Amino acid sequence: MMERTFVAIKPDGVQRGLVGDVISRLERRGLKLVAMRLMQVDEDLAGRHYSEHVSRPFFPSLVSFITSGPIVAMIWEANNAVALARQTMGATNPGDASPGTIRGDFGVDIGRNIVHGSDSPESAEREIGLFFGEGGALDYARSADQWIIES
Ligand code: RTP
Ligand code: MG
Repeated sequence: MMERTFVAIKPDGVQRGLVGDVISRLERRGLKLVAMRLMQVDEDLAGRHYSEHVSRPFFPSLVSFITSGPIVAMIWEANNAVALARQTMGATNPGDASPGTIRGDFGVDIGRNIVHGSDSPESAEREIGLFFGEGGALDYARSADQWIIES
């Protein structure tokens, strides 16, 4: 089923010059980019985005990290986009992520894992709303679709 997911390139990915690599991997996989914004996350947005982790010991460092520099916020579309994007990103801890995934190829520490991806269609909807509001995604035809999508 056609689905949208929220993906963010975290401040480490931007600072390390990995924006192109991350986008390229999702593009080559076949996901379609439907929204993108380079932005600074403030504490309020960080707290809302990570509200599920508010009681965890790592919450303060999560907020200070995600607000430490610009991120690239994106919406990607595909059949099964949420799961596909997370598979391309790899396990949360780069130390457990397979080579060939973004985190497995570029990361070392769990708190510097380059990308965020929504963990369910419900989270995707919530996060897309937080970062882009209503109508933030573009609806457009991509000429390669017939070579990526069977029906
Ligand atoms: P993300 O939300 O970033 O896509 O990653 P995820 O779903 O795989 O992981 P999640 O459990 O949602 O955790 C969010 C981010 O918090 C950091 N984290 N640190 N120190 C720790 O034990 C710990 N656990 C999680 C990671 O940077 C993770 O991406
Ligand atoms: Mg998560």
